[in-house]
Amino acid sequence: MPAHTAPLQLSADAMRAIGERTLDIALRHFADNRDAPVARTLPRATTEPLLRTPLPEQATPINALLDQLERDVFSNALRTDHPRFYAFVPSPTNFVSVAADMLTSAHNLFLGHWMASSAASQVEITTLDWLKELLGYPEEAGGIFVSGGSMANLTAIAAAREIRLGGADRAAIVYCSDQTHSSVGKGLRVVGFHADQRRTVATDADLRLSIPALEAAVRKDRAAGLKPFCVVANAGTTNTGAVDPLGQLADFCARENLWLHVDGAYGAAAVITTRGKALLTGIERADSVTLDPHKWLFQPYELGCVLVRDGSVLRRAFRVEDHDHADYLTDVVRHVKQDVNFFEHGIQLTRSFKALKLWLSLRAFGLPEFRRGVEVGFEMAEHAERVLRADSRWEIVTPAQMGIVTFRLAGGDAARTDAITTRTVDLTREDGYALVMSTMLRGRPALRLCPMHPATTRAEIEETIARLGRFSELAASQAATRA
Ligand SMILES: Cc1ncc(COP(=O)(O)O)c(C=O)c1O
Repeated sequence: MPAHTAPLQLSADAMRAIGERTLDIALRHFADNRDAPVARTLPRATTEPLLRTPLPEQATPINALLDQLERDVFSNALRTDHPRFYAFVPSPTNFVSVAADMLTSAHNLFLGHWMASSAASQVEITTLDWLKELLGYPEEAGGIFVSGGSMANLTAIAAAREIRLGGADRAAIVYCSDQTHSSVGKGLRVVGFHADQRRTVATDADLRLSIPALEAAVRKDRAAGLKPFCVVANAGTTNTGAVDPLGQLADFCARENLWLHVDGAYGAAAVITTRGKALLTGIERADSVTLDPHKWLFQPYELGCVLVRDGSVLRRAFRVEDHDHADYLTDVVRHVKQDVNFFEHGIQLTRSFKALKLWLSLRAFGLPEFRRGVEVGFEMAEHAERVLRADSRWEIVTPAQMGIVTFRLAGGDAARTDAITTRTVDLTREDGYALVMSTMLRGRPALRLCPMHPATTRAEIEETIARLGRFSELAASQAATRA
């Protein structure tokens, strides 16, 4: 590092040099991404000697560190922003948001209360208002940006319990389908629900929460003197993209006085498109919704969001009570009672300027560009389905919906097909052209494609499926040799 006097301070020239170097690395990532292997995972035995160093009592030239990061760290990972990353829920980004993240860190604004960040808090409020409007939520709705879907689900559950039950209640029951994301169960456990306070409701043939099964479960619990209080529905399950019958669920929850939370961590963003809006009809009637901009709104991690239909809910649930003695915040609360202090709307006190990247990219590109991006996801999953249907070796397990299609080899012995499916995933990952994973559907593995990158091409989808075919044949012949 260049010489300096006060600790940790750099000259403008030194900062510029670091900035230019890091910008080069970031630009190279964007330029080379498509041609780089989509997945590289090192064994711990390799990462330890590569990256284990003693506590740094000595300074190291930053260029050497940046070289190492580029060579050893960033390249040995799954590239969730790669145009051929079709596993889990991809996170393609955009450069405007990347630049925004740098500004967020550079300014390090404190978004916990209004006094510290009045204008930035206004940017967060404006961005939340856009999401509310897109969902079809009323003016009085509210929300808060959090780190991701898990935190958004947890925040919604905690708020629902506080508002409807006034705190922990051993008789309260929550209903989720068997396709619900694991973060919901984790959130329930973290806020103190016991396993016997959660009902896993069966799904129908399309893996959507079954209303008759839900009605029966609620009836049974009421008869047993328990307190049904919340239904968690899916707006795009991670497994297959299934959307639960949101309108019917809203009717049922209104009739039964149940809180309706919709987990649209990845899928709710599709409301920005005409077809997504139609698929998600009813979401606007949910009491709370999880929507992660770091999934289908093309934002870098960590940006999740929870929205509530009644904006007063968060403040009531996450108020800081007098007996909790936030004494050193007295002046803040005294001055700005009428303004939005986000620390009173969620779990965190210290928060970064989370909305900046979404605000900047939405304004810089305009919403139509995001719509086009989401449309690509729908179209690529549909194209994959068409290609698979044209090849008699494959059978579709669930058709393309909300950008996800699942499939496996057709016919044959189930146990043998399942083993081939699993081996095909391994061979595809080793190949490195595209990343495709399996998921368990009704107890059996199925291959799953979730192509969300706005720059994915039809040719890439076709080549990926061709390779899956070759790897399945290889896996089958390996299995035959072993038998
Ligand atoms: C439907 C759904 N809910 C919740 C989550 C959890 O979100 P996060 O990983 O951002 O915590 C995911 C993640 O993929 C998801 O797909």
